[in-house]
Amino acid sequence: MFVNTPPLGWNTWNTFGANINEELILQAADAMIETGLKDAGYNYVVIDDIWALKERDQNGRLVPDPQKFPHGMKYIADYLHQRGLKFGMYSCAGYLTCAGYPASFEHEWDDAKSFAEWEVDFLKYDYCFHPVSVRADILYKRMGLALANCGRDILFSACSWGSDHTRRWIKETGASMWRSTGDIMDSWTSIRDIAQSQLKVMEYNGHGCFNDMDMLVVGMNGQGNVGLTGCTYEEYRLHFSLWAFMNSPLMIGCDVRQMDDQTRSILTNREILAINQDPDGRSPFFANSHVFTPAENRGPDDAFYKDYPLDTPILAKYLSNGDIAIGLFNLSDTEASMWQTTITFDMLGLPATSGKTLELHDLWNGEVIRAVNGVIQIGSCPAHDCRVFRAKVVDAD
Ligand code: GLA
Repeated sequence: MFVNTPPLGWNTWNTFGANINEELILQAADAMIETGLKDAGYNYVVIDDIWALKERDQNGRLVPDPQKFPHGMKYIADYLHQRGLKFGMYSCAGYLTCAGYPASFEHEWDDAKSFAEWEVDFLKYDYCFHPVSVRADILYKRMGLALANCGRDILFSACSWGSDHTRRWIKETGASMWRSTGDIMDSWTSIRDIAQSQLKVMEYNGHGCFNDMDMLVVGMNGQGNVGLTGCTYEEYRLHFSLWAFMNSPLMIGCDVRQMDDQTRSILTNREILAINQDPDGRSPFFANSHVFTPAENRGPDDAFYKDYPLDTPILAKYLSNGDIAIGLFNLSDTEASMWQTTITFDMLGLPATSGKTLELHDLWNGEVIRAVNGVIQIGSCPAHDCRVFRAKVVDAD
């Protein structure tokens, strides 16, 4: 299945881990509607690992745990579909899922059939306990082909954490998104480490198959399955903004039934979501002005990025209406300096001879900054915070 924009939704894993059941899924679906998440575009409701019985039935089919899902999976699909939501499930390319439940190796076509019968719309496909005798790309092709022939449109969400050079082959498999990192935890260091690693692979992103930086921890506040220290409001805001800028699928991981106002205001920031969902789906690029990068230096990943300011990346992304999204993400532990917050037009592809300048609209506080002398001075950006703008090209007078 080909997608033009990164999928948006909610997934059980980050908060609930093994503690999932039918009631939770239906309540989460209701909450997504009542809180405005669905209206903002989040439409996939995904049941992650630990939904099945430990053994297949006598026909080799996966069996939903009847204690957790007494009416089976089609019942959940119907509930979601009646409310305009889509249904996601989870399996794995190995013998077992990451939590030790039956997985799809040598059952790919049977399982794709079950998912189609249950009217599933999305399959997250993990990589634990995989056979070492079969190449990674072949394992994902086996399920990609099975899904493409199952008689239903099922979005294939590959989750091999970027290992075995996933980026080189993932687009061959039919996947619409690929996990380009290991698992996120609810802490600042986890967010920062993922962000810095993902800045090095952003050119693999794009239409049809998006880099998946893992599910959001916004609003977890240290609670739940991957809850650690929790983060500040500013850190969650940066996390959301950066994932959006990088075209990552945005899968909410907090308990949507009890979001506080700050959490909701982050997750439903329409202007940030519009950057993520821009129909052109272009990759972001570095716009830090004090880094000189002649085109001929663009070598393989690490050589290319070694001089880049991974502590204070400034990203720009061309949008479909001619605007430019611009974001400064302060991943360092100190206030950004004037050098780190000044952008020259040449990095954005805007010549002085154009007679144009840029007017920047801050997407978190509404402030408007106008560039002067072909230079944007963003001003202050504290540690662990971000400044995110939509820049309009306007007449210079
Ligand atoms: C892996 C994945 C996680 C989650 C768990 C479930 O760790 O990367 O996102 O799906 O498995 O066991």
